[in-house]
Formats: sequence, structure tokens, C-alpha cells
Amino acid sequence: MSYLQWTENLSVGVPRMDEHHKRLVNLINLLFEAMSGDATSAVDTVLNDLLDYTRYHFAEEEKLLAVCGYPELEEHQAIHRAMVKEVLEMRQRYLGNPASVPASEALDFLSKWLMRHIIGKDLRYSSHVGDHPLDDSSPGS
Ligand SMILES: [Fe+2]
Ligand SMILES: [Fe+2]
Repeated sequence: MSYLQWTENLSVGVPRMDEHHKRLVNLINLLFEAMSGDATSAVDTVLNDLLDYTRYHFAEEEKLLAVCGYPELEEHQAIHRAMVKEVLEMRQRYLGNPASVPASEALDFLSKWLMRHIIGKDLRYSSHVGDHPLDDSSPGS
């Protein structure tokens, strides 16, 4: 099973958002590693990290889109909310019965979950946000 990879064609043209996406790719890979082992608690820890970081990234991305007056912001926010729900559901299913969520299935699901969103939705804001002066000036990025 190959790991998920961030490649240049996924760049939204905003370095800070690209860094966030790379971190999400890493967390999905960590989750796959944890699920390939036997420790349910390790999986839950990584799943929670993934959820936390996803929420953080979505909030930061939405702030950026709001500042830039992105016309599809509301739709984008709704999609983000639905995506968090999908991972929460997977977490519930996993905690209920770890065997019901095999590592390969989780990796497959999450790679589509992330890649489809970046390619189908995040790339759409690329031309709109452009070289916005606020992009890389926020502290703690
Ligand atoms: Fe997004
Ligand atoms: Fe994003």
C-alpha cells in the first residue's frame, strides 16, 4: 500500500494553505500506519489529531476566503462541515468495532476525502485569492 503524497499540482497558490494540506496528508499517512498496527488507542489519538487539524485548517481557510470576498464561501463552509462529519462517523464506527474499518479502507476513504476536496473545491479559490497580502503574514502558520 503506497502512502498518500502531496504533489505540486495540488498547490492552491497560497503557501500557508499548501503547508496545511501537506500536514493533512502526513496525518492521513500516520493514521494508516497506526491502523496497520494493533493499538486502538494509537489510532484514536491520530484520528483526533486529524480531526483537530482539519478543523483548524478549515477555519483558517474560511477566514482567508472571507477576507478575500470569495463568492463561494458559504458553499465551501458547508462542504467543510460535511467533511468533518464524515470523519467523525468513521471514528464512531472504528471505536464501535475496530475490525469494521480496515486500514486500507480508511486510507482509501481519506485520500479521496482530501484529494477530491483540494482538486475539486480548494483549487477553485486559487485564482481568486491570488497573492493576497494576508496569505503568509499570519503568525503561527
Ligand atoms: Fe477547503
Ligand atoms: Fe483546504
